[in-house]
Amino acid sequence: MKKIVILGSTGKIGSQALEVIRSYPKEFEIIGLACGHQSKEFENQIKEFRPKIVAIAEKDGQKGVVKTATHPEAELVVVAVVGLAGLKPTIAAIKAGKDIALATKEVLVIAGELVMKLLQKHKVNLVPLDSEHSAIFQSLKAGSQKEIKQVFLTMGKGPIAKMTKSQLIKVNIKDIFNRPCWSMGQKIGIDSASCMNKAFEVIEAKWLFNLKPEQIKILVHKEYLCHSLVEFIDGSIITELGSPDMRRYLQYALFYPVRKETKVSSLTNLVNKKITFESPPFEKFPCLELGYKVLKAGGTMPAVMHGADTTVVRAFVDGKIRFTDIPKIIVSTMKACRVIKEPTLGQLIKAEKWGQDYSQELIKKGLK
Ligand SMILES: NC(=O)c1ccc[n+]([C@@H]2O[C@H](COP(=O)([O-])OP(=O)(O)OC[C@H]3O[C@@H](n4cnc5c(N)ncnc54)[C@H](OP(=O)(O)O)[C@@H]3O)[C@@H](O)[C@H]2O)c1
Repeated sequence: MKKIVILGSTGKIGSQALEVIRSYPKEFEIIGLACGHQSKEFENQIKEFRPKIVAIAEKDGQKGVVKTATHPEAELVVVAVVGLAGLKPTIAAIKAGKDIALATKEVLVIAGELVMKLLQKHKVNLVPLDSEHSAIFQSLKAGSQKEIKQVFLTMGKGPIAKMTKSQLIKVNIKDIFNRPCWSMGQKIGIDSASCMNKAFEVIEAKWLFNLKPEQIKILVHKEYLCHSLVEFIDGSIITELGSPDMRRYLQYALFYPVRKETKVSSLTNLVNKKITFESPPFEKFPCLELGYKVLKAGGTMPAVMHGADTTVVRAFVDGKIRFTDIPKIIVSTMKACRVIKEPTLGQLIKAEKWGQDYSQELIKKGLK
C-alpha cells in the first residue's frame, strides 16, 4: 500500500486525487490531509479516509501543513494547494525524502532552481500533475532529456480566446468559468483566461525538463486531445493523447512508475477525430510572453511576477480592475522591480510579497 498525503484535499485537484484513491482501496492509504479552511467537506474526508494527521492552514498555520507533509509514514505527497502557500510544505517534504506529485506549479514558478537542486540532493522523485507537463514527462520515456530538440506546450481555445480585443475589456468571472473542458479552481481559471497560466507553465517546463526558454514553444490546440509534444533531435515527435480528464494524470502520478487500468473514460474511438494546431495569440494576450521574459531576467523576477498576478486576480474578482488591466499591472510591477540574482528562499518569498504589495499600490492609485 502506498502511503499518501494530500495538501489541498478539498480543492478541485485534491478532491479528484481522493476520487482516484477511493477507487483503489487496496493500493493506497491516506496518511495526512491538509486544507485552507474548516469545512463540512474536510470533515467528511476525515471521516471517510481516517488519516493519521490533518491540518487546516487558518487554524494550525503553515507549521501544521508542514508537519502533515513530513509525517514519518508518508511516502508520496500530492501538492495541490494554490500559490505561495505550497512552497514551504513542498520543500519540507523533499527534505524529508518524500516523493512529490506536483499540481502547484507556483512552487516551480517562484523557486524552480532551488527546488530542482533539492530534489537532486535528496534523491526524491517529482511527477508533474499539470496535464501538459505530465504529457512531456510521459513522452520522455521515448528519449532522454539531452535528446530533446524542443517541446510544444498545448493550450486550449475557450470562449475568451475567441473574443475580440474590445470584447476582452468586458470579460467577467461568469465568462471565464463557462469553459468547454475540465473545471478549475478560481485562481487557475482566471490565470488560464488571461494566459498567465501558460506563462507559468513555460517556467515550470524550463525547470522540470532543464530546457532553454527558446526550446519551449506554445501551440493552440482546440480539440483538447493532444497534451503537449516533445520533438527529439532526430525529428521524431512524441505526444500523449487522451481524454482531457485530470484524474488520468493523477492516477499516473499516484501509481508511478507503474500503470494500472483506468476507471476514467478513455479515448476509445479515434476515427474521424480531428487534431489541429494554431499559432499562439501573443498579441491579444500579453501575459503569454511573460514566462519567457521573466526567465530571461531570472533571479527574483518570476517571484515578483507571481506576486503581482496574485494581487491582480484578487482585484479582478473583487471588481476593482478590468480583465485587460491584468497584464498591464503585472508588467508595470515587473518594470519597477530590482532583480536579485541567485536569491535565497527568504529573498524569493520577500520578492513575491513585494510583487503583491507594489501591484496593490498601483491598483489603489488607479495606475496601470
Ligand atoms: N484545477 C485544475 O484543473 C488544475 C490543473 C493543473 C494544475 N492545477 C494547479 O493545482 C493547484 C490547485 O488548483 P485547484 O484548481 O485544485 O485549486 P482550488 O480548487 O482552489 O483548491 C485549493 C486547495 O488548497 C487549499 N488551501 C488553500 N490555502 C491553503 C494553505 N495555506 N495550506 C494548505 N492548503 C490550502 C484549499 O483549501 P480551502 O478550500 O479550505 O481553502 C483547497 O483545498 C494550483 O496550483 C493549480 O495551478 C490545477
